[in-house]
Amino acid sequence: MYQTWEELEKSIENCQKCKLWKTRQNIVFGVGNKKAKIMFIGEGPGADEDMQGEPFVGRAGKLMNMAFDMVGIKREEVYIANIVKCRPPGNRNPEDDESYACMDYLRNQVLLIKPEIIVLLGSVALKNILGKEYGITSSRGKWIERKGIKYMPTWHPAALLRDESKKVDFIKDLMEVIKEDK
Ligand code: URA
Repeated sequence: MYQTWEELEKSIENCQKCKLWKTRQNIVFGVGNKKAKIMFIGEGPGADEDMQGEPFVGRAGKLMNMAFDMVGIKREEVYIANIVKCRPPGNRNPEDDESYACMDYLRNQVLLIKPEIIVLLGSVALKNILGKEYGITSSRGKWIERKGIKYMPTWHPAALLRDESKKVDFIKDLMEVIKEDK
């Protein structure tokens, strides 16, 4: 594990640890406050993120920003990253070998940030971070504590685009996070 952001960022520059490097435009490392108390972890970059090199800048990201505004979370105060840092072609889910290959980068980010709270956005984040035995439908909205970090699983913002009724849950879960952060 690297002790500085400079070393960590340098180590990923030409990453070819999995096959996703072949089709990526940009590595989407993560964005936000490197001393954030709250960290958000998504699944992997989509087309917009791949083009811009920043997580959650497409449709799902815009919806997430709106939800942030509603509950008073400032995007620049939190840290946002993904399970995989390169776009899976056609927006498929990351495959296990890809998530596994990429996990050390995320672990290192968590180590450097030392967040108190990690919001897991959707099933891929939940299963990769806490274990395959967890399901998003039964776990969302409930705190899970591990090694001094409080995890809040919630819907992936893209799921809200497909099912409007999930927006209420998402806002509720974010408000729970804000409450805990006070
Ligand atoms: N979906 C994700 O999981 N992450 C992003 O960065 C964008 C969309």
